[in-house]
Amino acid sequence: MLASTRRSPGERGSDVLVIGGGIIGLVTAWRAARRGLRTALADPAPGGGAAQVAAGMLAAVTELHYGEETLLGLNLASAARYPEFAAELAEASGGLDIGFRTCGTLAVALDADDRAHLRELHALQRRCGLESEWLTGRECRRLEPMLAPGVRGGLRVDGDHQVDPRRLAAALLAACERAGVVFHRVRAERLTVVRDRAAGAELADGTALAAGQVVLAAGSLSGRLAGVPPEVLPPVRPVKGQVLRLTVPPAYAPFLQRTVRAVVRGSHVYLVPRENGELVVGATSEEQGWDTTVTAGGVYELLRDAHELVPGITELPLTETRAGLRPASPDNAPLLGPTALPGLHLATGHYRNGVLLTPLTGEVLAEVLVSGELPEVARPFTPFRFSAAREESLV
Ligand code: GLY
Repeated sequence: MLASTRRSPGERGSDVLVIGGGIIGLVTAWRAARRGLRTALADPAPGGGAAQVAAGMLAAVTELHYGEETLLGLNLASAARYPEFAAELAEASGGLDIGFRTCGTLAVALDADDRAHLRELHALQRRCGLESEWLTGRECRRLEPMLAPGVRGGLRVDGDHQVDPRRLAAALLAACERAGVVFHRVRAERLTVVRDRAAGAELADGTALAAGQVVLAAGSLSGRLAGVPPEVLPPVRPVKGQVLRLTVPPAYAPFLQRTVRAVVRGSHVYLVPRENGELVVGATSEEQGWDTTVTAGGVYELLRDAHELVPGITELPLTETRAGLRPASPDNAPLLGPTALPGLHLATGHYRNGVLLTPLTGEVLAEVLVSGELPEVARPFTPFRFSAAREESLV
């Protein structure tokens, strides 16, 4: 330990230190504590991060992309856990509801190009054995009368649901507190490595935390923690997403019954209606580094595209505009489990699927922390896949 650091009140340290208190860090800490591990978590504002911005779609089927069939397996496995996860979390948090809503999703096309794109997605979904039904424009409007008259067709996916990420974060925070997770509301500044093993972290206030194992779950910031050997540092980058929140006055309800989405001029737009009248409209996808400015252009494009889809949105009060950072990895999939540095695990790089993958991530990380074994379902997402690529590039 450096001479300038001071010991924390938990002098003997913990079994596990989680760095990062977004939903991924929180679920990891909660699950680890439930498995009997003495768990600490370092974050200046636990419960914050991308979950405060995210819409909370559980869109394993409608967000399927070519080449991401392996990720699909992980996404589906996590989606299947949501009903039980929501019930368990409600109990563990003292009754907090996370807004899990089995409302389904309708992905629609506004012109011939969109329709061709959606037809291809439908074919891919069917090849992957997924449930998805092609509807005509008229059938789409029968389900959602607020849709624009020009809608040319769509995909009805009854299995893609939603959750409220802010309520999810609040419930995880309460569940962690009740499970005995020790919170250090300070930024982790440097990983401590002792005899080639991760052994804790130094915090920005000089506190030194010792731990048997460390989980780096700091979202986009995970690639920046000092003290992590370069070959182990996760290759994550921030991808900015601007998101709007509107309010549906009771007189207009039900405005939309399910999540409605489309690709308009190549950009994804989605409208996620909550039972409490909130309507979330997202999201831009911008490679802008660490910038989280809400721009006039971003808001304009989202409103323009959402208006093409559902013209009535211009009547609704616009209650919030915000931008967050998705932690993206080179293959759009998360990094889960042990690294080449003994004692250091990763739970980051969830990109567009952080909320969806929360239940499975907590389960997988807790299992690794307890048994040392990465469960089968998570093996394709080992951080070692990038170490191997790095080594090959050096040959
Ligand atoms: N999964 C939705 C988004 O990342 O915008």
